[in-house]
Amino acid sequence: MSTVSLDQFLQLRISRRCQYFIENNRLLALVYAQQFDRPLLENLFRLADAVRSLSETSDGRLFLRSLLPDRRAMLYFTQPSTRTFLSFAAACHILGMSTADVRDPATSSEVKGETRQDALRIFSIYHDLIIMRQPEAGFCEKIAFQMLSWPGRKPIINAGSGTDQHPTQALLDLYTLHRCFGRAGGLDHKKIMLVGDLKRGRTARSLAYLLTNYQGIELILAAPDELAMAEDIKQHLRENSTTFIETNDMHAHLAEIDAIYMTRIQDEWDQGSKTSIDYSRLGLQAKHLTALKPHCYILHPLPRRREIQTAIDSDPRAVYFDQAENGMWIRAALIAHMFAVDKDILEH
Ligand code: CP
Repeated sequence: MSTVSLDQFLQLRISRRCQYFIENNRLLALVYAQQFDRPLLENLFRLADAVRSLSETSDGRLFLRSLLPDRRAMLYFTQPSTRTFLSFAAACHILGMSTADVRDPATSSEVKGETRQDALRIFSIYHDLIIMRQPEAGFCEKIAFQMLSWPGRKPIINAGSGTDQHPTQALLDLYTLHRCFGRAGGLDHKKIMLVGDLKRGRTARSLAYLLTNYQGIELILAAPDELAMAEDIKQHLRENSTTFIETNDMHAHLAEIDAIYMTRIQDEWDQGSKTSIDYSRLGLQAKHLTALKPHCYILHPLPRRREIQTAIDSDPRAVYFDQAENGMWIRAALIAHMFAVDKDILEH
């Protein structure tokens, strides 16, 4: 049971807030990308590799399904999703969990005026894990804190919170980079360009946090001036000695980078207002591939629009569909960690 009020909790520094969501080196809730440190990341990568490998055989799949057959997960997704929703559902099923979902509050008693807090409390009565995506930045952390004092203290995972954070997307992005650079000296000391709507793109924001766990990373933050990375992330990069530059010309830097992370313009947040932002310098096209290093990996959290030409999909450096698959394995690893069956998997 927590000894501080919600208001007091929200006034704490984020590093202090993270401490509420961990117990005996195990996450009780995953709300912020800042909750991951390097040892935890590397443990999860090993675990994801083990889940992937076990899933290759029928015996392995049956073993994985025997781990959590008595646990139920609730997927509460009130913002649209394809990859995150389906890969979390698949991850639960890999571990034998059953799932239920609410994807449209118009189909739940919220339409009768029930608050989201009450809805979540009810979900936590019927389920052992809540996986939640919704449009309000900061809401997940409030609920995660409140859940610490609800009966059963059920774990919760932030599957995307407004324009703020998407920690498990960043986790799968990092897992993908870790696999890409496995035979090339690892991820330390790599130069990575984040491109697109860095102001409202929660995936790029969470990934920037996670990359500070690695040594000597250099970041190029490429965005139109109106959509530049927000000051809170830049402050975090400075505090963690992660070098970065900002530019609105991604093409000027293509030859020097080890990975490029493209993102979509998040215009669902424009709320109908017309913008005059110049997006013309944001696309990666087939004609740009020759400028990239032979082992410069191309990532995108997806969905994409025109910022990556489909002609690039067959280039061996394009790993965005691998990212989507990696999401399922690393999310299974995360759930296994939260439910303390990680050792069973690693020792099997
Ligand atoms: N990358 C990502 O979050 O995709 P979805 O919105 O389809 O879940």
